[in-house]
Amino acid sequence: MSEERLRRLRDRVRPFPDFPVPGVLFRDISPLLKDPEAFRTLIDLLEDHLRVSHPKIDFIAGLDSRGFLIGPPLAQRLGIGFVLIRKKGKLPGPTESISYALEYGKAELEIQSDAVEAGQKVVIVDDLLATGGTMCAACELVKRLKAEVLECMVIIELKLLKGSEKLKSVPFYSLLQYD
Ligand code: PRP
Ligand code: ADE
Ligand code: MG
Repeated sequence: MSEERLRRLRDRVRPFPDFPVPGVLFRDISPLLKDPEAFRTLIDLLEDHLRVSHPKIDFIAGLDSRGFLIGPPLAQRLGIGFVLIRKKGKLPGPTESISYALEYGKAELEIQSDAVEAGQKVVIVDDLLATGGTMCAACELVKRLKAEVLECMVIIELKLLKGSEKLKSVPFYSLLQYD
């Protein structure tokens, strides 16, 4: 993977100190989304990784809301479907739900009970892993439906928060790492 391509992505992540609460250094991906070439490079790199690591994926599952920005274009590239994991109260019909803590608060996630079937292979995507609370909750939801989480994948990993340790045995992949 080209260091130059990764550097171009890294240049398009903006740090904002003390947002949304004091003490948090917020990593803003808005410049990356605004630049069509950089965004294409982002999806290229994620696609390349998945094609090599997991030749057989049934669904990409994306996390509300920033995971929705990268999940659908990635799923289209791979020729597979996209599944929503949403914040509580947004999905109709029977759902599984779970509450969790994240770097700056608490929330609840849901998945529709018929979103995936037992035994199907799912890759979960989000923009960023901080404490890992959100991703861990998403894994639990997919597993409750008896589907298999092949991998959790993000653009940005905040290493100091050690979120990947929370994912235990589930394979984890990040493109950009920050302390
Ligand atoms: C942010 C980010 C990740 C999560 C990471 O989402 O997009 O989903 O926090 O934090 P964690 O690893 O500590 O759980 P947020 O809930 O702020 O909402 P958004 O995606 O709707 O902006
Ligand atoms: N979600 C959780 N922590 C975050 C951070 N530091 N920057 C952007 N999104 C986040
Ligand atoms: Mg999010």
